[in-house]
Amino acid sequence: MDDPFHARVLARIWQKLADALAGPGDPWRTAVVATAGPSARILVLRAVDPVAATVDFHTDARSAKVAQLSADPRAEWVFWEPRVKEQLRLATTATVHRDDALAEAAWAALPPQAWREYASVAPPGHAVDELAQAHARETVQAAARANFAVVRCAIQRMDWMQVGPAAEHQRIRFEPGEAGFRGRWLVP
Ligand SMILES: Cc1cc2nc3c(=O)[nH]c(=O)nc-3n(C[C@H](O)[C@H](O)[C@H](O)COP(=O)(O)O)c2cc1C
Repeated sequence: MDDPFHARVLARIWQKLADALAGPGDPWRTAVVATAGPSARILVLRAVDPVAATVDFHTDARSAKVAQLSADPRAEWVFWEPRVKEQLRLATTATVHRDDALAEAAWAALPPQAWREYASVAPPGHAVDELAQAHARETVQAAARANFAVVRCAIQRMDWMQVGPAAEHQRIRFEPGEAGFRGRWLVP
């Protein structure tokens, strides 16, 4: 990391991601995550590991995004904080975890009742005639557990941008190097 400003921005990125995990109202608590399709949706950031350079989300393994990731593991996250006009794009490669220790630990750490999110009788996106059918749920946790997935996304590239007006727009691309992520200025 040659430019000290780049180092500060990178540290700030990891700090903001960590802060977002703690705060339900934090603007980076949710992100748009795009998969091949194109297909994009809002997801909740569930875990961040600055050492391994990964970010996680939780989802229903029956959802369209999981099928899309099985065909093409690329996922792009987009975070946006309006107050400071700061955008972060993460180009990642996703791995779906359902039956391993990672999924078990995440399942065990879910707050009470959260398991119900994964207990729909019909899969997410399935069309039904009545609203009540959309809300029909299995009543045993084991059924929900079978649908639960952690998607771990390995960060291949970061693209950070802050929009003026006080200063010129600033944009930096961070890519992995021998000593961690290395930044390069980009034309905004
Ligand atoms: C504020 C908000 C947070 C959401 N968080 C999640 C989430 O963490 N995981 C998830 O699978 N879907 C989440 N959703 C629903 C997704 O945006 C999406 O509608 C759903 O997962 C189906 O996406 P798919 O058909 O592309 O698989 C959230 C939606 C909103 C509005």
